[in-house]
Amino acid sequence: MDSRPFDVLLYGAGGFTGRQTVAYFAAHAPAGLRWALAGRHLDRLEAARAAAVGPSRPAQVLKADSRDRASVDTVVSRARVVLNTAGPFALYGDPVVDACVRFRTHYVDITGETTWVADLIQRHHARAAADGVRIIPFCGVDSVPSDLGAFLLVRFLRAQGVGCGPVKAAFRLRGGLNGGTVASAIQLFESGQAYRAQEPFLLDGPAAHTPEEVAASVDPLRPRWDADFGRWLAPFVMAPVNTRVVRRSAALAALAGEAYGAHFAYQEYLSVKSRLQASAMAAGLSVFQAALGSPARHLLKRLLPGPGTGPSEDVITSGWLRCDFLAVGEDGRKAYGLVRDTGDPGNAITVKCLCESALALAQDAARLPGGTGRGGILTPAVGLGDVLVERLRARGMVLSASSSPP
Ligand SMILES: NC(=O)c1ccc[n+]([C@@H]2O[C@H](COP(=O)([O-])OP(=O)(O)OC[C@H]3O[C@@H](n4cnc5c(N)ncnc54)[C@H](OP(=O)(O)O)[C@@H]3O)[C@@H](O)[C@H]2O)c1
Repeated sequence: MDSRPFDVLLYGAGGFTGRQTVAYFAAHAPAGLRWALAGRHLDRLEAARAAAVGPSRPAQVLKADSRDRASVDTVVSRARVVLNTAGPFALYGDPVVDACVRFRTHYVDITGETTWVADLIQRHHARAAADGVRIIPFCGVDSVPSDLGAFLLVRFLRAQGVGCGPVKAAFRLRGGLNGGTVASAIQLFESGQAYRAQEPFLLDGPAAHTPEEVAASVDPLRPRWDADFGRWLAPFVMAPVNTRVVRRSAALAALAGEAYGAHFAYQEYLSVKSRLQASAMAAGLSVFQAALGSPARHLLKRLLPGPGTGPSEDVITSGWLRCDFLAVGEDGRKAYGLVRDTGDPGNAITVKCLCESALALAQDAARLPGGTGRGGILTPAVGLGDVLVERLRARGMVLSASSSPP
């Protein structure tokens, strides 16, 4: 591995999110880290390199189009870690992950495409696990805050000798929308896969669940008052992704002998001020999903941001995210969690989570959970755990668990 010329390869670095990963690495990559850019348009990669200001510079810019598998093999085989922002991942991701598994290159991305990852698990989990290759999707705002927030609560209760029961999470956030995210949502419906995404344990693999567990884990559709949070809760657009990821973390942890708890369950919501707002959010989400599933999505394509575009710099810097968690231990005691940060969740926070995940793989291999032998299609909590928590805290993100509300 050390003989490879690059520690980290930023794939898709000419895209809207990709350009921000280049800026993040230029500003924060440690001295001596060898990193390079790759993608299908050299001019866009060169522009990203020229725009990024900071002490660290990319060693090289490499052309690799995911429709040309040989070009992808060439760049992936030269890196220890690949950071991928070329999405929709169901369209462009397979050649990259396939190559990472074959060349034993660790991998992180920011997909929220659960059905794509379900297929990766089928195809690659066993081999990546046997070879100790960490393939870690969902390293953006879907689903790092949810996954690490639940992980910290489980650990907090375990330290008191108590297993973790149900956990609920309530998000508040402000930010913009990327064209790439719209394209990924549309791709899910155009591919006819949207129905699969409703399966509550889509990413668990062979773990069995009782009909009661499944019924308790379906995505909520109605608004409701929550006395614990003292807030109205509405269905949350990211919950069908985040909940599947947290449940996979629980399933993988149980296989590794670190079970979250026999009665662990996870749900999440959007937290709003009033009943009216909660009803409006619930109705808006159903209308949006119905439109995506109908011919009206062609209109949405024209109205919403297109690939390569995203929010203004103002929106990216003025956004924020706050997620409150409540866990009930198996003996009934409660534990409270908080994840909070500033910046647009889909851009500034996503880029921070993703880049720190890649840097953790590149720099902290000996300290990663499960030791150097752990591999598979993993989650942020199972593949990076405390190492990522520490890195994000050092970059200003609040991640906490305690016995009293924050
Ligand atoms: N999880 C999260 O929190 C989060 C947040 C933001 C975005 N995302 C996801 O990240 C992905 C990218 O979003 P974005 O806003 O950055 O989109 P974008 O600006 O449209 O970027 C897409 C990237 O994919 C590249 N690409 C397209 N076809 C390719 C091919 N055949 N081979 C290699 N690269 C190819 C594009 O290259 P060119 O520039 O050469 O066209 C571009 O670099 C989307 O799937 C989105 O859903 C997730």
